[in-house]
Amino acid sequence: MKFFIDTADVDAIRELNDLGMADGVTTNPSLIMKSGRDILEVTKEICSIVSGPVSAEVVALNADDMIAEGRKLAEIAENIAIKVPLTWDGLKTCKVLSGEGRMVNVTLCFSANQALLAAKAGATFISPFIGRLDDINIDGMELIADIRAIYDNYGFDTQILAASIRSANHMKDAALIGADVATAPPNVIKAMANHVLTDKGLDGFMKDWAKTGQKIL
Ligand code: G3P
Repeated sequence: MKFFIDTADVDAIRELNDLGMADGVTTNPSLIMKSGRDILEVTKEICSIVSGPVSAEVVALNADDMIAEGRKLAEIAENIAIKVPLTWDGLKTCKVLSGEGRMVNVTLCFSANQALLAAKAGATFISPFIGRLDDINIDGMELIADIRAIYDNYGFDTQILAASIRSANHMKDAALIGADVATAPPNVIKAMANHVLTDKGLDGFMKDWAKTGQKIL
């Protein structure tokens, strides 16, 4: 499973990229707001750090303006994936921009039918939002499994990009189901390294080591 980093924080992206953990980046209007930076400037910097796809989201609501915004965002760098919402206008935009050979990430997906439409419209990525479904007591991971089954039934190339990931368990479950990509905030990716028995084991080793009086360096 590929890891995309769901942030516009360039320092965090750089750190994870140096570790080989950043196969791409996803941003959205809320993350750009949080960064406090200009969308074109920060997206360009992110594209210079990671070589994989960097999603930049359009903000227009009608297809003509979405297409124009998408083309402008795509000029930032070769590795831009244009992110469009899963609305009828977003699907029209997806069809046009993917037809031009551009990567398109269809976002705000909350049902298998929406994912089926995105694949038919030529999406490179479909972004089902797990956490936001969990928030309203619908099993977000079940949606990932449904989309996986449907795409596999018909051999769609659209990659499932599990999004709105809130925990390390979400990462594990998405990987078990076979999501192609999971995008998560840096703290969730770092949390995957945590285990209470690792901490306890290390503590024991350090105490015993101190008793030896030895040094390695
Ligand atoms: O990838 C989508 C993500 O940014 C949304 O996450 O936690 O706001 O639902 P969240």
